[in-house]
Amino acid sequence: MPDKPDRNAIEVVKVSKIFGSGEGQVAALDTVSVSIRENEFFTLLGPSGCGKTTLLRLIAGFDFPTAGEILLYGQDIAPLPPFKRPVNTVFQSYALFPHMTVAENIGFGLEMLGKPKAEIKARVDAMLKLVKMEALSARRTSQISGGQQQRVALARALAPQPKVLLLDEPLSALDYKLRKEMQIELKRLQHETGITFIFVTHDQEEALTMSDRIAVMSSGKILQVGSPRDIYDRPSERFVADFIGESNFLKAEVVGVSGGRATVKLSSGTEIPASLPEGLVPQGKVTIVVRPEHAQLSAANSGASLSGMVENIVYLGTDTHFHLRLADGEPFIVRRQNSRGTGDGIVQGGKVGILIGGDAAQVLKD
Ligand SMILES: Nc1ncnc2c1ncn2[C@@H]1O[C@H](COP(=O)(O)OP(=O)(O)OP(=O)(O)O)[C@@H](O)[C@H]1O
Ligand SMILES: [Mg+2]
Repeated sequence: MPDKPDRNAIEVVKVSKIFGSGEGQVAALDTVSVSIRENEFFTLLGPSGCGKTTLLRLIAGFDFPTAGEILLYGQDIAPLPPFKRPVNTVFQSYALFPHMTVAENIGFGLEMLGKPKAEIKARVDAMLKLVKMEALSARRTSQISGGQQQRVALARALAPQPKVLLLDEPLSALDYKLRKEMQIELKRLQHETGITFIFVTHDQEEALTMSDRIAVMSSGKILQVGSPRDIYDRPSERFVADFIGESNFLKAEVVGVSGGRATVKLSSGTEIPASLPEGLVPQGKVTIVVRPEHAQLSAANSGASLSGMVENIVYLGTDTHFHLRLADGEPFIVRRQNSRGTGDGIVQGGKVGILIGGDAAQVLKD
């Protein structure tokens, strides 16, 4: 990954957006603050209705915040109408003009800006090349495939050279294979143009593979912002851990905190170390999370953090999932990569030890 300069392209400062009034009032965004760096591939990830599109619309200027402000390179952009913001949007529906050719669609924004003909042609040619659509430039957009329409929509949004590109679930209409190809394509485009991308998805895998940083949203709030690895390895609360990847949640009690880490006592009585969300000094009863591939199994009980009974073994070729039941009745899953061999004596109905290593557990805020 190239070094990203540490300059903020967009700062969202305590932004709220309330729709409606009285009983029917909806807080689509509730005091959201987040900074997005220049040249960053930044993703808003969250379930349907959590406020992702609302936040994009406020940045684009299609709607106004009820409270708070949005800064672009340090300047409040509230007075700027959408077309004067150096921000462009790729909508989920593409919204191409079907009666226009590929080239006309790409040049449309530049025409609206009143750019000279020669400049428009040069930009359109460059964009056609960028999205590899030169051969289809004279085709009407009603006569090209979904993936090709997607590329035209991208080229059209990139043509006026915005500083920030907003992408609202741009890949959700594509089939799996095309979607995978377009993910790589989008990363390449972002890399080549150096434009800041704010990408919306509710697909956690897409978010993990594409983003420099991810903001996880729920019910109008941003719960956590971090690199894909931060978010996956160090979720700060249960919603984040649950929404991204598979998780084991364990009840535990804090017995000590030092140097930004805690020692917690599990239901088995065993004490293990656990990392902490930033700024949290936990006390008393807490929930910890352990990812299924971060725990190990042992046929013997001795030295294990917990013991469990094997309820189910699911062999998946590349790895095996062990569904366990702990002594306190809670479920626990261990995922293990397979190697070639004849097994290890772990059988359905058998007892096993579960090892939770020094950097496998994380304390949650809630
Ligand atoms: N114009 C509007 N009037 C009233 N409520 C609205 C309006 N636009 C959005 N909402 C509500 O605000 C909340 C957030 O909507 P938003 O479209 O931002 O969600 P989203 O995260 O983009 O969801 P999805 O993944 O389904 O696209 C929802 O509860 C939605 O019903
Ligand atoms: Mg949406």
